[in-house]
Amino acid sequence: MTEPHKVILIGMMGAGKSTTARLLADRLGWRYLDSDDEVERRAGRPIPEIWRESGEAAFRAEETRVLADICSQPHPTVLSVGGGAVVDLENRALLRRAGLVVWLRADVSTLARRVGSGDGRPLLAGGPGPALTRLADDRAQIYAELADLVFDVDRLSPPEVAEQIAEAVRSSGSPARA
Ligand code: S3P
Repeated sequence: MTEPHKVILIGMMGAGKSTTARLLADRLGWRYLDSDDEVERRAGRPIPEIWRESGEAAFRAEETRVLADICSQPHPTVLSVGGGAVVDLENRALLRRAGLVVWLRADVSTLARRVGSGDGRPLLAGGPGPALTRLADDRAQIYAELADLVFDVDRLSPPEVAEQIAEAVRSSGSPARA
């Protein structure tokens, strides 16, 4: 029996994916990666700048390349995936094959509290509230269909969520879909 060698955290902006992924990687002794950080590192500029200078399509194309590269690597990895990556069908297929997919589900009020003014997130530039509501609505079914596990994070801190996922991974034996 083997553990899944990748855990992939999906969910909306503000769900706590990056913080939880870092904590989970520590607990499991695995590598931590964040698709947004990788896109920024490769582009040599922050996401709002990529968005402004090259457009969302260029950001999405780089995001897809980053996911494909990470998923092709054998290292045990906890991967935090930017909230909109799963809208793309091929990204979904890739993530599904790569390991255990975990949705951090949160109410829009929780998301809004956590993203604050929305700085650094171009899709929230017109005001976080309405955008979060619309995007959460549009994506809920996608997240639900893709996820092997779902955690409601409204009343859980990132360390609590990380611990619960770690327990699920340790006790999972073989990956749900490998
Ligand atoms: C996006 C989420 C962001 C980032 C980009 C677009 C989205 O990542 O990829 O601003 O479409 O939901 P986080 O979910 O890590 O904030």
